[in-house]
Amino acid sequence: MSQVICRDISKSYANVGVLNRVNLEVNEGEFLVMLGPSGCGKSTLLRIIAGLERQDAGSIRIGGRPVDDIHPRERDVAMVFQNYALYPLMSVYENLAFSLKIRKLPAADIDRRVREVAGILGLAQHFNHRPAQLSGGQRQRVAMGRAMVRNPRVFLFDEPLSNLDARLRSKVRGEIKSLHLSLSTTTIYVTHDQIEALTMGDRIMVMRDGGIEQIGTPDEVYLAPANRYVATFIGSPEINILDGVIDGSDEKVCIIDGRKFPLPAGAAPVGKILYGIRPHDLMLSAAVAGDALPIAATVEFTEPTGGAVIVHAKLGEQTIILQIAHDEGQTLAPGDAINLAVNPGRIHLFNPSSERRITAK
Ligand SMILES: Nc1ncnc2c1ncn2[C@@H]1O[C@H](COP(=O)(O)OP(=O)(O)OP(=O)(O)O)[C@@H](O)[C@H]1O
Ligand SMILES: [Mg+2]
Repeated sequence: MSQVICRDISKSYANVGVLNRVNLEVNEGEFLVMLGPSGCGKSTLLRIIAGLERQDAGSIRIGGRPVDDIHPRERDVAMVFQNYALYPLMSVYENLAFSLKIRKLPAADIDRRVREVAGILGLAQHFNHRPAQLSGGQRQRVAMGRAMVRNPRVFLFDEPLSNLDARLRSKVRGEIKSLHLSLSTTTIYVTHDQIEALTMGDRIMVMRDGGIEQIGTPDEVYLAPANRYVATFIGSPEINILDGVIDGSDEKVCIIDGRKFPLPAGAAPVGKILYGIRPHDLMLSAAVAGDALPIAATVEFTEPTGGAVIVHAKLGEQTIILQIAHDEGQTLAPGDAINLAVNPGRIHLFNPSSERRITAK
């Protein structure tokens, strides 16, 4: 049993609220990602789960047992910090073995465990090296190995990849994911990087200002964001959120800058609306099949990104961004008139005052 349950966790520092009644259940064996901008309370929540910080209100259970009065060392969790500070004068082997020595495990057990973990992480050939002799990615693996040797019930990762360059980040990201597939240890992973969240998480918890905006699978938060904030935080390039009006003469169109954007029948009430469409759910209309409406726009500029081109275009007042295949977009130039079409299955509508998602009845 290694489920983690947070009930109504609140925390303030000097009367400034940092966490506000956070409720969360992480299932046994699950990889849960906490995602949110700097300062939203991610590390604070993780430190409370680890027992390094005490909540003002609420309770934590790990593996069915209340742990609020239990010392961090007895909680059977292992945390990997952003600044993981290896012991610089110890070898890789000694770094891995250290926490087991402190626990006075028999030497043979320590050796077996260290070799097992080093085998999984590909560190055995570095046993005699000191941290300064390792690359950033190797150091990161030693930091993870130190957590793994203890065979904890729960792994807590606090932005473990933020010190690595982009290439190494995606490599270690893959390593952590495949590690989880083989170990299935319950994991809570903090990041402010939505790509890490989408690629690694079984579920993603999107936070804002000490509260939870949405918890769901990567598909759920991406395809059905609960509100404008979640829609905007997840996905790159960022989703287009356009001001539109449904005028009642035709419930199957939303008027945006005088253009007619498609709507599913009965999707939303008459009146003002926020119309969300992701850049790659837009097409040049030559590429559209069926009776989709062409939408006139003017190219402002384009950004080639290798396989795709990001096109910034003007409707009337508002700007719209589309992401299309390189071959389709490469000849576009500023000032070109284009016609757009919308993938009608991928429209996100939000209430303009509450900014909550409008779901069709
Ligand atoms: N020990 C502390 N004393 C006072 N304020 C604190 C303390 N720890 C955190 N805070 C405040 O609590 C808020 C949340 O901090 P936290 O470290 O949890 O954010 P975070 O989401 O992890 O951000 P980041 O992505 O920058 O790491 C911040 O406004 C921070 O200044
Ligand atoms: Mg943090």
